[in-house]
Amino acid sequence: MGPIGVFDSGFGGLTILKELHQHLPQYDYLYLGDNARSPYGTRSFETVYKYTLQCVEKLFDEGCNLVILACNTASAHALRSIQMRDLPRLAPDRRVLGVIRPTTEVIGRYSQTKHIGIFATKGTVNSKSYPIEIGKFFPDLKVFQEACPMWVPLVENGEHLDAGADYFIQKHIRNLLVQSSRIDTVLLGCTHYPLLMHKLKEFMPTHIRIVTQGEIVVHSLEDYLVRHPEIESRCSKNAGIRFQTTESAAFFDEQSELFFGKRSSSEQIQIH
Ligand code: DGL
Repeated sequence: MGPIGVFDSGFGGLTILKELHQHLPQYDYLYLGDNARSPYGTRSFETVYKYTLQCVEKLFDEGCNLVILACNTASAHALRSIQMRDLPRLAPDRRVLGVIRPTTEVIGRYSQTKHIGIFATKGTVNSKSYPIEIGKFFPDLKVFQEACPMWVPLVENGEHLDAGADYFIQKHIRNLLVQSSRIDTVLLGCTHYPLLMHKLKEFMPTHIRIVTQGEIVVHSLEDYLVRHPEIESRCSKNAGIRFQTTESAAFFDEQSELFFGKRSSSEQIQIH
């Protein structure tokens, strides 16, 4: 038995962990933020894969039998290779899940016009994971993407609610909406972006629905655990949460409140 591992390049995955902890409080969670090497969104495919695999192995070493990549960039670049190539070799009885697949399974239900927009990191947009995966579930849905490379640094540095952020937020809203006037739903395809919700609501036309991934991931995990009792029975249930970061613990604890709603007490770890 072990905690459910929740991984992100930095703080973003805490927006997912917050929902998991709220809706499935009985489980133990171990969060790992690779803050020392964040952001991942502008890094190459190979680098994101290498870093993600190292972090997953670390979570396995800590006893996690189930790991969630609460990061779209890592899900887009590393999940398939880890599932197909690494797991059978490293830990055939453990599981790694991502956040893209659960989102693409339901996103089509949100749109009336069948035109949706996605804000994500450069890495996620360039991987084309969203249009490809959405095409499998909703072939008639038109998907428009916009990469927002400045949004994660703004959030990680706590500058996202200041006036200086407005330029970058408005610019990417414009770039997305100019691609189609029929977009009625916009997905925040990066786990950092819910922190920008306030500004997005301010600058986005009011008829456009903004979708975040937290609840989608919760429902998908709930369903997964019901369908996989062999994994569920190996998730410990003492309602505990631990936090690990590859950067300074003090820095993590200071920022975590913003993402998780309460201050964490984290531990700094080394990834080799
Ligand atoms: N939170 C990550 C995501 O969902 C991206 C952050 C980063 O660029 O490292 O894509």
